[in-house]
This record gives sequence, C-alpha cells and structure tokens, in this order.
Amino acid sequence: MKNADYLTGITTSGTPHLGNYVGAIRPAVETSRDPNLTSYYFLADYHSLIKNFDPRLRCQSTLEIAAAWIALGLDYENCVFYRQSDIPEIPELTWILTTLTAKGLMNRAHAYKASVADNQTQDHTDPDKGITMGLFSYPILMAADILMFNAKKVPVGKDQVQHLEMTRDIAARFNHIYKKLFILPEVVVDETSSVLAGLDGRKMSKSYNNYIPLFDTEKRLRSLIMKIQTNSLAPEEPKDTATCTLFSIYKAFADKSETRAMEKRYQEGIAWGTMKQELFEYINEILKDPRQKYMELMKNPGDIEHILKNGALKAREFSVPFLDKIRTSVGIKSLG
Ligand code: TRP
Repeated sequence: MKNADYLTGITTSGTPHLGNYVGAIRPAVETSRDPNLTSYYFLADYHSLIKNFDPRLRCQSTLEIAAAWIALGLDYENCVFYRQSDIPEIPELTWILTTLTAKGLMNRAHAYKASVADNQTQDHTDPDKGITMGLFSYPILMAADILMFNAKKVPVGKDQVQHLEMTRDIAARFNHIYKKLFILPEVVVDETSSVLAGLDGRKMSKSYNNYIPLFDTEKRLRSLIMKIQTNSLAPEEPKDTATCTLFSIYKAFADKSETRAMEKRYQEGIAWGTMKQELFEYINEILKDPRQKYMELMKNPGDIEHILKNGALKAREFSVPFLDKIRTSVGIKSLG
C-alpha cells in the first residue's frame, strides 16, 4: 500500500446530515473513485472519546457514518476505508509525537482556548475546569492520524486549518530532531461548498441542532424542509436568493444551469410553499437510492464490520512497516 494522496477523518459523534454530505462525503466519494489516487478515509472513534461519554451513541454513530459513506457510493475497494481504533500504530505514534510537541503550541489551540475563555466568563476560579488532557492533546492525535500515512493532502473544514498547521509544525520537529521521515501535509479547504445552511439559517451543524439527517424517512425529510425559516414575502413578490436558506441548499445540490433557472424564478416571485416542495423533491430524488442501500446496510452491521476490517488490513500494510522505521529512528529497536 502507498502513502496517502488524500486523507481525512470523520469523528464518530452524531448522525450524518446534509451538511456532512455536501462538505465532506460528496467530495470524498469522488476522490475515492479515482484509480490514479490513493485516498484514506477513516472513522475517528478515538477522537469521539473526547466529545462524549456515551458508549452506545459512539457505537451507533460509527455504524451510521460507515453505512452512510458506503451507501453514498464510497469506493471502498479502490480507497482505504477504516476505523482509527483498528490501527494500533496510531496511538503509538501519538505518544512519540507527544514527546516532541511544545506545550505552548497546544495552549494556542482554538478549541482549548475557547474552553478556557468560557470558564473565565463564567467566573470559575480554575480556568481549566472540566478540560481533559484528551481535549488538550486532541491536535496530537490528529497529527498522528495524518503522519502515520504520510498524507500529502488533507481535506477539512475551515475550523480544522489550525490543526493542520500544528501537524506540519510537529512533523518538521520530528524531521529535524531524528530523521526526515515525514511529508509536511497540505490542507485543502473547499470554500465554495463546505458550509451548508441549516433549518435556522446558521451553518448546518450537530451542535446547533438545526440539521437535516441524510437518511430519515421521506416523510420526515419533507417535514424538516417545510420547517426551514423564510421571510414573510407573499407569492409573486420578487425574492432575494443571497439571503435565502432554501436557495443555498438547492444550489449545493443543483448544477449551474438549474441554479440559474431557479434564480429567475426567485425574481418572478416563486411562492415559499412551492419552493419548499420542489427542494424536497429534488433532494429526495438524489437520496432515494442511497437511502434504500443505507437501510439494507444498517440491517447487516456484520457486512460493514467486514469492510472496515479489510480496510484496516490495507492501511496496516503501510502503518506497520512505517512505524517500525519511526521507532528505529528514535532508537527503539531490537538490541541484537
Ligand atoms: N478533527 C476532525 C474534525 O473534527 C476529524 C479528524 C480526526 C481528522 N483526525 C483527522 C480530519 C485527520 C483530518 C485528518 O473534523
């Protein structure tokens, strides 16, 4: 197995939603099918340990996310699709990297700083109240995910850019102190389609609870789309596309000419009820077959387990010998 041209991880906390599809799944599915690229996609279940303490939720989310990616067409034969916790080399590398990561670098992490700031505004005497070492060291585990497979490009959302900078920093430090083994990975942020608006117009996100799950029933998909907030303009009044959540979701799925045609109908004053119904029909058409496949997969978790185990075998073809090289270069090796 070759090192990764593309690599990205999905934290297994939550149910896959339309925003995940547009921002992460759809571009990854496309890359996964390219015979000239080696891409690695994994379920970051060790990362999810930091975010919640509910074992059932973690396990369920792992199953749902794996099923969603497969149902939406991930080519798991051509790419490497695995679960982080099936690769014991990742936590081993995490420790090695931890020993060379400056604490000051971690102090500057946005997520950690936000938690400290939260504590300070709530007037806690301890600025680190409730903050675990897992949260603090999160970027090092992420660096290990990436460096374990010497990934060249890492597609992520904007909020992860700082983690990539840290990864490069840590890799450079290893290369400098021990041996030049690591490629410095490049971040890839898709500005155009990475943020989808949710039910209330803010970014669609689990934490805002404003998301539309990918694989709920058809009925529920329709009722959620009907709930999307709009203004009170009457039918036939011209409407603005730029500030419209319905339009932005439509645009994320439709092609250019369909989008232009819809713009025209906004100028002509399409009624909100009509637009909602059309948006539902459009998205439902795209999700219909994958939904069927998803339901099948969810009934057969053993099949998913099998696919992930196979992916881990492929990934470890790379990680086992590479970790051996890393250990040798730091002086942890056979004595004779
Ligand atoms: N931290 C990422 C997120 O929350 C998930 C992730 C874990 C990841 N490991 C990674 C992304 C390695 C890219 C590469 O979105």
